[in-house]
Amino acid sequence: MSRPLAAITGASSGIGAVFARRLAVDHDLLLIARRQDRLEKLGGELARDFGAAVETLEADLATDAGIARVVKRISGEDRLVLLINNAGFGTRGLFWEAPLEEQERMHTLHVMATMCLCHAALRGMTARNRGALVNVASVAAFVRRSGAASYGATKSWMAVFTEALFLELRGIKSEVVVQALCPGYTYSEFHDTMQVSRKTMASPRYWLTAERVVDASLKGLRKRKLFVIPGWHYRLIVALITKLPSSLRLAIESRVSRR
Ligand SMILES: NC(=O)c1ccc[n+]([C@@H]2O[C@H](COP(=O)([O-])OP(=O)(O)OC[C@H]3O[C@@H](n4cnc5c(N)ncnc54)[C@H](OP(=O)(O)O)[C@@H]3O)[C@@H](O)[C@H]2O)c1
Repeated sequence: MSRPLAAITGASSGIGAVFARRLAVDHDLLLIARRQDRLEKLGGELARDFGAAVETLEADLATDAGIARVVKRISGEDRLVLLINNAGFGTRGLFWEAPLEEQERMHTLHVMATMCLCHAALRGMTARNRGALVNVASVAAFVRRSGAASYGATKSWMAVFTEALFLELRGIKSEVVVQALCPGYTYSEFHDTMQVSRKTMASPRYWLTAERVVDASLKGLRKRKLFVIPGWHYRLIVALITKLPSSLRLAIESRVSRR
């Protein structure tokens, strides 16, 4: 018998791959990323270990064609109960010094892909009055840093967009759940891809495992929590910084950026 379907973008490594492992226990999976070989290897393991039916979809979600491919696949998919918009990346350098093309790709991936996939999924979910969306934002949605202008801006967009969906769904008394997952520094391939040393980013006590992030998200889904910020120290930072007057917040952010 087929099981409910979970679609995960960026499932070829890090947080997305851990979501796939956790969800394979009781879901069939649609795994999406560019590295098809990685998706197939993971899918094979999950089919063998958990009996999940796993479909892989190669798509570059920083392109219109890639987004259209995934939208086409999930539109009208009656078994879709969970969509995780997780694919993402970071860049280095001051905004005007970093290549514009990378900034454009980031905006397309974090903003346009998230928006289009949420739209495709919510049409069916709201009609069935069942399902959930997780948009993987970041603590960077709340705490700005020099060298990450587009990253902070696009992750803030994800948080605000998810909050607005929450209000719209609540307004129609829908059972559909939405979550903005906001991790801090997490061990994955993210910083390797950026080619930055983890040591220069933060001390080891601030680093989370992808398993801890995913478990907090799944627990949050069960409790229908809108914002999930894994780790008490990150919850404290966000709670404090968002309450400060902007002049004081910017002074702290400038100091942290200089380090
Ligand atoms: N690690 C952290 O410290 C941290 C903190 C806060 C938030 N996050 C967020 O967490 C999410 C997952 O990141 P991660 O930490 O797990 O990093 P990761 O290990 O580098 O995984 C990123 C995933 O995104 C996929 N991806 C990147 N560009 C893509 C594209 N153009 N089209 C389709 N898929 C693409 C990658 O797959 P392919 O390369 O195979 O396409 C990979 O599966 C990201 O949204 C990131 O912003 C991470």
